[in-house]
Amino acid sequence: MVSNHKLKRIGILTSGGDCPGLNAVIRAVVKVATYKYGWEVYGIPYGTDGFIELLVGKRQPEDLRIKEHGYDIPGLVQGLDILYFLSGSVLGSISKGNPELHADDIIKGYEKLGLTALIVIGGDGSIEILDGLAQKAAGQGASWNWVAIPKTIDNDIPFTEASVGFDTAVNRVTQALYDLTFTAASHDRVMIVQVMGRDSGYLAMEAGIAGGADAILIPELTPVLNEHVIMGVCRHIGQLQQNGRRFALVVVAEGVKNHLNQKEHYIGDYLACQIQECSRLCSIDSPETSKIYPFDTRVTVLGHVQRGGTPTSTDRLLATAFGREAVDLIVNGNYNQMVIWESGRVSSVPISRVIEQIKKGRREKKAPSRVDPQGFLVRTARDIGIYVGETISDDR
Ligand code: F6P
Repeated sequence: MVSNHKLKRIGILTSGGDCPGLNAVIRAVVKVATYKYGWEVYGIPYGTDGFIELLVGKRQPEDLRIKEHGYDIPGLVQGLDILYFLSGSVLGSISKGNPELHADDIIKGYEKLGLTALIVIGGDGSIEILDGLAQKAAGQGASWNWVAIPKTIDNDIPFTEASVGFDTAVNRVTQALYDLTFTAASHDRVMIVQVMGRDSGYLAMEAGIAGGADAILIPELTPVLNEHVIMGVCRHIGQLQQNGRRFALVVVAEGVKNHLNQKEHYIGDYLACQIQECSRLCSIDSPETSKIYPFDTRVTVLGHVQRGGTPTSTDRLLATAFGREAVDLIVNGNYNQMVIWESGRVSSVPISRVIEQIKKGRREKKAPSRVDPQGFLVRTARDIGIYVGETISDDR
């Protein structure tokens, strides 16, 4: 057993939108830090806001200590090691406000806690904000060592093939497509399913392929729902009708824009109106030649159910491996790194490289990591006859 004298401290916080698997990361960090190294872990509540609460005395350092076993964190069901399958974040998270406005207080709160380093579980926005804080602290000669762990259902963080929460979200959407299939088939309907992803199409593309979608519209391939795309979807569904499929599943990522290149809160509704009208006009204009029957459309906006649910085994494993790696990096003094998943292994890259890509994405108004239009996902979708747009040339 490690002596209780002057134990080193790791802080951990969750920042940005929650997703399944965050608690599994926290659990792994506590276990590895405690059992492997005999370090203490402090959970910072509500992202960087927790540092301010600490500074102003609203919370005391001891309140934030996550105990050795980690299974008393929710505090109610003693003895159950529930964090690996519990969704959300037991630490709470923030996705609003601008922590940079309170940078000085946050830095002082960090110092008050006497942390050796901080683990930040966050998406692209949070990593950028925390990097700004780290730069500021360095400018003041203050201590601010940190390691980032990528999480987001959008899976759009550079350098990592997987981020915590993504796999569970893919499964949620895939299940929703399955659930919608039978009602769609029973009524010969075109079901439009709007999925999250902000500016990224990974979630729509992976779940669409896995869930049997007939068309998948993502910002990387069909950024704008212009006439060409609407006509393409209609023709594709018309063709399916000719081949005996009387219903269709269309997945649209929320980052796809309307014909004026504007974001719509409910792009699924917009798409439904457009294709319904298009099918109506086609069948009226040339009833013999068009071979399209007017579509009966329905829209499902999956919303935040995509961020819920029990984390899948893949997410739990990823979370655990990431948490372990982050602690190892810190104990070895290897700070300012983001852990990544690459070719079946966990490793890390300097945060400075991640930030370059995030800023590039921001300049181009695109997700920092995007579905490759020529990559295997898109090829797979096209090759099994899913409509994904026609504008990108296939260079096989
Ligand atoms: O970035 C993750 C994400 O779930 C996006 O897919 C979505 O656009 C956004 O967060 C929703 O954020 P909020 O929970 O703030 O509405």
